[in-house]
Amino acid sequence: QEEEDEKLSQECKELLLSLPREKGWRTSYLYKFKGFWCQPKQIQAILSFQTHFQVKDTDVIVASIPKSGTTWLKALVFAISNRDKHPILTSSKCPHDQNPQAHLQLSHPLLVSNPHDLVPFFEYKLYANTDGDQGLLDLSGLPDPRLFATHIPFGALQEPIKKSGCKIVYICRNPLDTFISSWVYTNKLMKEGGLPPLPLEEAFEMYCQGVVGFGPFWENMLGYWKESLERPEKVLFLKYEEMREDHEGLHLRKLANFLGCPFSLEEEKSGVLEGIAKLCSFEKLKDLEVNKSGSGAIMTFENKHLFRKGQVGDWVNYLSPSMVEKLATVMDDKLGGSGLEF
Ligand code: A3P
Repeated sequence: QEEEDEKLSQECKELLLSLPREKGWRTSYLYKFKGFWCQPKQIQAILSFQTHFQVKDTDVIVASIPKSGTTWLKALVFAISNRDKHPILTSSKCPHDQNPQAHLQLSHPLLVSNPHDLVPFFEYKLYANTDGDQGLLDLSGLPDPRLFATHIPFGALQEPIKKSGCKIVYICRNPLDTFISSWVYTNKLMKEGGLPPLPLEEAFEMYCQGVVGFGPFWENMLGYWKESLERPEKVLFLKYEEMREDHEGLHLRKLANFLGCPFSLEEEKSGVLEGIAKLCSFEKLKDLEVNKSGSGAIMTFENKHLFRKGQVGDWVNYLSPSMVEKLATVMDDKLGGSGLEF
């Protein structure tokens, strides 16, 4: 951590001195920056992002708090937005039509790249290694719609993004499952880095206090929730649990409509929706070589950690009744009256 902090820009080091800090989950400290908890490296990346990024009305931003289903949503947004360039094979178009299973996609970027490489995060990838003007990527030549992602809460996004016509899709997940997913993931990264695990109880207390990357979780969720109610054309708010239960493709249609590329009748009939759902499914993505043995989709970590169980309600296997009661009280207290329910 000290080595990492040494590499930060002077501007970032000075800023950190003025920010409140708490012990982090994986790093020595999380700092409260623009109202949310963040690691030093990401603060530097966000400073650069907020100075240099030029938004376009055609941009699409996938947003979430970590471990809410971001990888899945990125895959869906990529597949839906790029289906003219990268067609989804359906059973009727598949060359192996003697095989009823044959609507398996044979070639598509999602089969060889992790969704985070196709829809990059501003703070983990695009602006991760920038210091001042050094190391900036030129994003202006990317084809439209440019697809990006962030965990930054809505309130902390820069004004040009809020005011532009760019669209934001937010995915939200039950905090009980998000907490367990975050804790298990953190401990996998700790193990990968040769560090001791973070005890469940300790992580839980921090989570309930709001001290978690890009949290408090309630503020991250409420910012996008409120904006989605006020400006539904700007922010589409999706819930992981509803998407998991949706076998009719309602969310795919909602997404495609929101992104301005609704499914045609012909696409509906030929099974494009089913093809996209299958291509982006947990089972399919988890089993791909790039996601089994690749690394670097999120920082330097192994991609396989991004796919664990993909279940709704797995918290029941980890949390004691008193923990559930405590988190339920926090949720009531912080989300009550907002209309956002789980
Ligand atoms: P679990 O840890 O509960 O299994 P994120 O992508 O925001 O990091 O969220 C990770 C969570 O989404 C993990 O949950 C992971 O297993 C699950 N996930 C990853 N890909 C998925 C997919 N295609 N469909 C459903 N869930 C997925």
